[in-house]
Amino acid sequence: MISTTDPTTANPIYFHDYHPTPSDLRAEVLAGLGRSRKQLSPKWFYDAEGSKLFDAICELPEYYPTRTEIAILREHGAEMAQRLGREALLVELGSGSSLKIRVLLEALQPALYMPVDISSEHLQQSAQALAATFPKLEVHAVCADYSTPFELPVDDHQHPRAAFFPGSSIGNFEPTDAEQLLRRVGAILGPEGRLLIGVDLIKDRERLERAYNDAAGVTAAFNMNLLSRINRELDGGFDLSCFRHEAFFNVEQSRIEMHLLSTCDQQVEVAGETFSFREGETVHTECSHKYSVDGFHALAARAGFQPEQVWTDPEQLFSVHCLVYRP
Ligand code: AVI
Repeated sequence: MISTTDPTTANPIYFHDYHPTPSDLRAEVLAGLGRSRKQLSPKWFYDAEGSKLFDAICELPEYYPTRTEIAILREHGAEMAQRLGREALLVELGSGSSLKIRVLLEALQPALYMPVDISSEHLQQSAQALAATFPKLEVHAVCADYSTPFELPVDDHQHPRAAFFPGSSIGNFEPTDAEQLLRRVGAILGPEGRLLIGVDLIKDRERLERAYNDAAGVTAAFNMNLLSRINRELDGGFDLSCFRHEAFFNVEQSRIEMHLLSTCDQQVEVAGETFSFREGETVHTECSHKYSVDGFHALAARAGFQPEQVWTDPEQLFSVHCLVYRP
């Protein structure tokens, strides 16, 4: 673990680098493309280019989750802060540009803020920008893959612990993995720790599918960037003109599925290995599960969390839950 402070800001920023090594990408991509149903983890979307594209998705008119969640945070931030308590050690999972936490920081006034993100450059930039706006805040940026176990880089037990997991990123995990992840968050928080988590709600298919098939093609570019990344980082030979973005709502599984569809029979070399694709065959790149409030509470309960409060928007598009860890 490397800790660095940034001398350009008044408050210290500590950077704790647990970054997954490039061999993780290689091993996972080779294993994922070698499966009979080809699959890649959505966590690999988020290189520098992918993170930029994701930020652009969040601004799209069709992609309602971001602005709806922010509106909920704005409207109920004071109540949320009361639930979480002041002077907390606040961990944010998948902090990205740290935009949403800005809405809450004034009200929350945490003692320590720990953004955790897999994208190193993005994390450092946003941590610096945040520290510049909140000069009294002690920031510990943790570059890690939060989908695997990791330890907090500070040994602090004097502050109450809280976690913020916005954006319905929990929906990108299979329900059993989501449960496991919540259990690990619970272990980090300890008994009576609070989790504030954003969860996208089940709604009509048309609205859901529009959000993942935007007219400007930004979501398509985000999905296709995974192939560009493999070309760049793993000496891949994907011809992007022979693949296209596909996203649809799978009602039975209550999830949006994103795929990269091969438009012809082809062979592609990646890291010295050859993979065959049939015309119409897809690489499954992402699931985005949608929950009812009760369905999500049931999942959280299996991980040891009790619901304390839930906030939604007038159209019931999105929900933000405060959960307390009582295993
Ligand atoms: C990060 N995550 C919650 C987004 C989602 O909606 O599942 C990722 C995304 N994929 C396509 N558009 C947005």
